Amino acid sequence: MKDTSYPVLVAENITVRYRKGRQHFTALDNVNVRIPHAATVGLVGESGSGKSTLAKAILGLVPITTGRIELLGQDITHLNGRRRRGLGRSIQAVFQDPNTSLNPSFTVGRSLIEPLKAQNMLGDIDVDARVAEVLTAVGMEPDAASRQPRQFSGGQRQRISIARALITNPQVVVCDEAVSALDLSVQAQVLNLLTDLQRERGLSYLFISHDMSVVKHICHEVTVLYRGTIKESGPTQQITTQPADPYTKALLLAAPIADPVVQRQRQRPTSAVPAPSRTSLIS
Ligand SMILES: Nc1ncnc2c1ncn2[C@@H]1O[C@H](COP(=O)(O)OP(=O)(O)OP(=O)(O)O)[C@@H](O)[C@H]1O
Ligand SMILES: [Mg+2]
Repeated sequence: MKDTSYPVLVAENITVRYRKGRQHFTALDNVNVRIPHAATVGLVGESGSGKSTLAKAILGLVPITTGRIELLGQDITHLNGRRRRGLGRSIQAVFQDPNTSLNPSFTVGRSLIEPLKAQNMLGDIDVDARVAEVLTAVGMEPDAASRQPRQFSGGQRQRISIARALITNPQVVVCDEAVSALDLSVQAQVLNLLTDLQRERGLSYLFISHDMSVVKHICHEVTVLYRGTIKESGPTQQITTQPADPYTKALLLAAPIADPVVQRQRQRPTSAVPAPSRTSLIS
């Protein structure tokens, strides 16, 4: 039988420091993530914990200070821009705000083919057929290509953003709060779509969310980030039913509750252990 447990993406000992004036700010400190073939790995943590920074580091959008990133067995740590082409088609992203990937003044079709341009793939394939195929795959009509993003609902625009991510036929899709802006019922539909696409195409997801209830629903494994460091990681069932770390317990308790009175009475999750400072002077 084909071994499907091999990792498609490995991020090892990732440290990212941002420069803020005369200081360094450590957004990620020695973080490790491994995404198996056709699996969904959740990345959770409250605002500012470094989730998007890890997504951007993996996508080659922010430089890493130390560490190593391997995609499909190849080291891509220092491949940026043009040098990432070829491998870049194997990893795509869906963000919270569809405007990030769908230019409001472009037709949907024009936005959909941008990743093909960026990866130099326009000459290799029947572009119209590929556009129609990815739109159909996300439950949209192919004629959506000739319309403008504003003619669609938020859920439909997010489906189109997923189609755009699929157009290069990637193995890994980074979903950074991809369903967070959607109403609950639409959120469920888009999560089901992501699950169906995973089954049909063998996709792997890095699924970033601040919402544990969403993560429980879709992720096979979960990594918990707190102020740039990993608190714990493991199978979703284990992390959500027997969390080892007090911070994870607090995050689980913070999963949204339909009753606004109960929701308002809650405290924000914080770690039981005082965190070290994340800033240091540049010498
Ligand atoms: N370009 C940048 N320059 C300096 N600091 C940054 C930069 N981008 C992010 N940061 C800081 O790094 C930390 C981590 O930010 P990041 O966006 O990765 O968090 P996040 O977990 O995605 O948060 P959210 O849930 O709000 O999206 C934050 O304190 C943020 O202010
Ligand atoms: Mg973020």
